Parts: sequence; structure tokens; C-alpha cells
Amino acid sequence: MRSAVVLGGYGNFGRRVVAALAADRSCRVVVAGRDLQKARAVVDELGGPNLEAAALDCHATNLVSELQRLGASVVIHTAGPFQGQDYAVAQACIDARAHYVDLADARAYVCGIGALDEPARRNDVLVVSGASSVPALSSAVVDLLQPQFSTIESIEHGITSGAKPPGLAAMEGVLGYVGKPFAQWRDGAWRTAYGWQDLTRKRYPWPVGRRWLANCDVPDLELFPQRYAPVRTVVFRAGVGMTVGMLSTWAASWFVRGGLMRSLLPWVPTLRKAALAIERFGSKSSGMHVTVHGLDAKAQPIARTWWLLAGNDHGPHVPCLPSIALARKLLRDEVRARGAMPCVGLLTVDEILAVGRGLDLRTEATAD
Ligand SMILES: NC(=O)c1ccc[n+]([C@@H]2O[C@H](COP(=O)([O-])OP(=O)(O)OC[C@H]3O[C@@H](n4cnc5c(N)ncnc54)[C@H](OP(=O)(O)O)[C@@H]3O)[C@@H](O)[C@H]2O)c1
Repeated sequence: MRSAVVLGGYGNFGRRVVAALAADRSCRVVVAGRDLQKARAVVDELGGPNLEAAALDCHATNLVSELQRLGASVVIHTAGPFQGQDYAVAQACIDARAHYVDLADARAYVCGIGALDEPARRNDVLVVSGASSVPALSSAVVDLLQPQFSTIESIEHGITSGAKPPGLAAMEGVLGYVGKPFAQWRDGAWRTAYGWQDLTRKRYPWPVGRRWLANCDVPDLELFPQRYAPVRTVVFRAGVGMTVGMLSTWAASWFVRGGLMRSLLPWVPTLRKAALAIERFGSKSSGMHVTVHGLDAKAQPIARTWWLLAGNDHGPHVPCLPSIALARKLLRDEVRARGAMPCVGLLTVDEILAVGRGLDLRTEATAD
């Protein structure tokens, strides 16, 4: 029986990955993290014969031998934030000859993973970064829409969450760049955008409705201008379902941008507690959209939007679906690719959403 080790396996997203893989019963799943008691609690709660708990620190010097001891075939790394992390975990997986899949949303981390390409090929493993909403699902959606275009001119996409806050790592990841500058490909040139600024109102189909969105720094901003060249504009925005949370984050971005505050990071644990306290007053719906503008086969301007709408607080399952889909394929030996790469071109939208069958998720496609 092959083994999947989920680092951060009792975290917000890791736990969902564990539950989905363990349900297969065809593989052994190790719930791993720094706290063995928390790992054991997940094993007890899910209660499968193929589940195991392990104390494992991503920074441990014996990570390679621990992964070998656990018999890891695939490691799913959910222990973010990935902003500022090095590739020690991915390198340990290569050394232990285990495939590596992470949920990273950190631009530099995901876009730089190719640095491990040669060692990964040498050890016959696949190292994949960003097997999550971005860039795995977002790029799969653009790939899906691409045949309708002779030229893609712009890609504008975004995500709005419900009121349920994610885990600490995910919040640290996205709030770490509040008010901070980053490069955005707009009108055929790299321009400076600021995290959580450029506030925009967007109407999503039912059940989501109108939401505030703001600029976010994701791997897509760097990957898409190359992959979909000669695209002239790539913009990604995200937002939270609670208007008060959204507007206060936007306000804080001006304090950071103006130099009155260095970073919102020290406030993240407090902000998460506040978000948990008011969660019950907010929406259980969330959504994702991908809008592509360009020219059709007859060189006529067209626009297509793909929507993903989630109800009943099922949206937080979405960031896990690509990693589950890829891990299952790797465990079944169905992936021929080897080397290290961002998670683009490895999964289709159908493969990703098939993992979410039974959840309150639906897609729509509109022509604008
Ligand atoms: N790409 C995308 O579209 C996308 C979307 C959403 C989320 N994400 C990513 O998902 C990640 C996880 O988010 P989350 O909401 O699940 O966060 P979370 O609930 O805080 O989970 C992180 C887990 O990692 C564990 N951990 C932390 N440091 C560790 C270490 N040194 N060794 C082993 N385990 C460690 C934590 O447990 P202990 O502290 O007890 O060890 C915790 O269980 C985020 O970092 C974010 O980048 C990506």
C-alpha cells in the first residue's frame, strides 16, 4: 500500500486533504505536524484503518530519514505560509524519493520551484508547487477557455471567500503583503500594484451576490504573461465575505503603504480571532471567476467568464481539490511528468472538480 504524508495534516486545509485521501482506502495516509496530539485527534475523529499520526517538523534536520521511515510515496505540504519559506521540504522529498505537492500561493516560491528540476528528474520524482486555487485551478480554467480565442488579450480573475476565516497560515500569507508593492502585467508593461488596494465591486451569480475585491499578489501574475502570451493584462483580485473585514483591510493597506505601519502580520492572530467571533453573521457562500477577453477565430472581440459558486460553507474545500486530484494520480502511478514545476498544465478543470463531487459547488459560463 502506498503512503501519502500530509504536512500540516490537522490544519484547516490539510485536514480536508487527509479526509479525502483516507476515504480512498487504497493508500495509507499519515497526518503530520509538529503537535502529535493534534495529529492523533484527527486520526481518531476520522477513524480509518489506513490513517496514522506522526510528529514531523518541516524544519527538522532528519526530515529525509523520517519521510523514508514513514514510507512516503507522496508528500502534500500544506504547512504554510510559503512566503519566505525555502525549498527544504521539497528537497527532502527529492532526497527521500517521494513526490512532492504543495498548496503554495506565494509568488516567488511557486515561480521559483523550477530550481529543483534537475535533482527531481535525477531522482525520478515530481515536485509541484501551487496545487490549489491558484495557479492550478485558475490556469486550468484559462486552458479550458483558450480554444475559443485566437488571441488572449486580458485575464482578470478573482476569489471571494465566505465569512469563515481560513487557518492562520493562509491568513498570514495573504495579509503579509497588505499595502506592499508588487509587479502586475497591465497594458503590456510591468506596473506597480499594492496589496489589497484598487478596491472593486463585483457581482457574482447567486448565491454569492455583490462583493468587494482588491489586488492580490499571486503566482499567476508572473506565470500567465508567459503561458498566455501575447496577453497584455493579467489582474488577480480577492476579497473576504465580510464587508467590515474587507474595508478595514483596505484601510490598513494605506497605513502600510504610507509607512505608518510596517506590516499587518503581527495583527493576524487577533484579526483571525475577530473573524471567528463574527463568522456567524456573515455569508456561507463564496466564489471564483475567470474572465478572458480577446479575439475569436474571425478576429472579432469576445469575452468569456467562468464562475465557480459555492454554498453552505463548501468553498474552503476548493483550495484542496487540485492537490487531492494530483496526489491520487501520483499514488496510482498515472503521472509520467518528472522534474519540478508550478502546477499548470498538469490537471484539467474536470479532474479538479471531480474531487469535489457531492459538495455544494456549481459552475457557470457566460459570454459578456
Ligand atoms: N494557492 C492557493 O490558491 C491557496 C489557497 C488557500 C490556501 N493556500 C495555502 O494553504 C496553506 C495552509 O493554510 P491553512 O488555512 O490550512 O493554514 P493552517 O490551518 O494554519 O495550517 C497550517 C498547518 O501547518 C502546520 N505547521 C506549521 N508549521 C509547521 C512546521 N514547521 N512543521 C510541520 N507542520 C507545521 C500547523 O500546525 P502546527 O503549528 O501545530 O505545527 C498547521 O496544522 C497556506 O499557507 C496557504 O499558502 C493556498
